[in-house]
Amino acid sequence: MSAEPIAQSLDEPATERCLVVVPTYDEAENIDRLLDAVLAAAPYADVLVVDDNSPDGTARLVTRRREFGERVWLLERPGKAGLGAAYRAGFAWALERGYDRIAQMDADLSHPPERVPALFAALDDADVSVGSRYVDGGGVANWAWRRRLLSWAGNLYVRLVLGTGVHDNTAGFKAFRREALEDIGVLESESNGYSFQIENTWRAAQAGLSVVEVPITFTDRTEGQSKMSGSIATEALTRVLVWRFSEVLMFLAVGGFGYIVDVVAFNAFRLVEPFKALDPAYARTAAVVLAILVNYIGNRAWTWRNVPSDDRRRELALFFLFSVIGFGFSLACLLISHDVLGYTSALADNISANVVGLALGAVFRFWTYKKYVFHAQAPVREVRRASVKVPSRPA
Ligand code: GDD
Ligand code: MN
Repeated sequence: MSAEPIAQSLDEPATERCLVVVPTYDEAENIDRLLDAVLAAAPYADVLVVDDNSPDGTARLVTRRREFGERVWLLERPGKAGLGAAYRAGFAWALERGYDRIAQMDADLSHPPERVPALFAALDDADVSVGSRYVDGGGVANWAWRRRLLSWAGNLYVRLVLGTGVHDNTAGFKAFRREALEDIGVLESESNGYSFQIENTWRAAQAGLSVVEVPITFTDRTEGQSKMSGSIATEALTRVLVWRFSEVLMFLAVGGFGYIVDVVAFNAFRLVEPFKALDPAYARTAAVVLAILVNYIGNRAWTWRNVPSDDRRRELALFFLFSVIGFGFSLACLLISHDVLGYTSALADNISANVVGLALGAVFRFWTYKKYVFHAQAPVREVRRASVKVPSRPA
């Protein structure tokens, strides 16, 4: 197979199919203006409205459109089930129908329709594009300072806790290559509201996908009402902590199990041939190797199961290296406290080796496993050019 990308000549007909998914709940005052603007800004794209049986008749307005059944589509759901559920249904619809680039945006004109082409174009060489308020050139218009501060602080919190490397982690204006939606596992996510947005961006970063931010100005809605509430914001704050915390807990649980394996194996080895006849150091070494293997399998299959692995041998070799160094922390702490500092009591030895050394080693191992071992490389994708000539900067 040749590694040459299949370059597409500029005068070839359109091959990349683009869809914009728009969830609606009571957006009758906005939907026509939004559809007009999106259809005009991206003449190559279709739009799917996902309506949760809005009492104000939003769906009826969609079916009355001239483009209905050609470029405008409607997915009707029985009742209000939340933003995340609506997007999951819309993305499933898009994947089934073979769209190549799938964007998401709100119906209330908060997201500038004229930036839809920039989001789609960014997917020429990225897996995910995010319409971002918090990069150069982006911003928010007519938000009260309290809402501004809340959004900014929320984003900072998410960045610090999850470390996605993305500035706008709650953004609701984004686009994905279809493979990205599949890699992220969007259809299996559980969250709604703000945390739905955070979860997908985080999973994309974790899966090693390339995420680019495209500056946009977010303008607060002038018609209708926001459906976001304190409980949706709280869901996001707690989920972010749970995601991060559960990673640490899983790592610790795997480590605890590994420790038990180590102790049991050491004693078992001392009783069996060929170890029985040998120096106990051999049994010790064999038990440590076994414990490291158990740790590797546990972390690979559970703690970091969502991180794709491209080279198992390299992964295992690095894991061994960092594990040995990590366990070496106990020994180093013991030597320092016993021989250098002169604390020679049994209690002091235990504190230095089994409390301080073990804890420092665990921190070191968690950090190196995460940063170097279970760290996804960006998947190699075929270079694809947008079939449509789209401006990458606003006109
Ligand atoms: N189908 C469906 N079902 N649509 C819904 C539902 C629902 O339960 N809840 C909200 N929507 C639709 C709205 O009709 C609108 O088109 C869009 O989802 C966003 O809802 P808003 O209520 O306008 O959200 P917001 O302006 O407070 O929040 C926006 O900005 C946040 C970042 O600041 C959204 O884009 C959030 O996702 C984003 O995190
Ligand atoms: Mn809104």
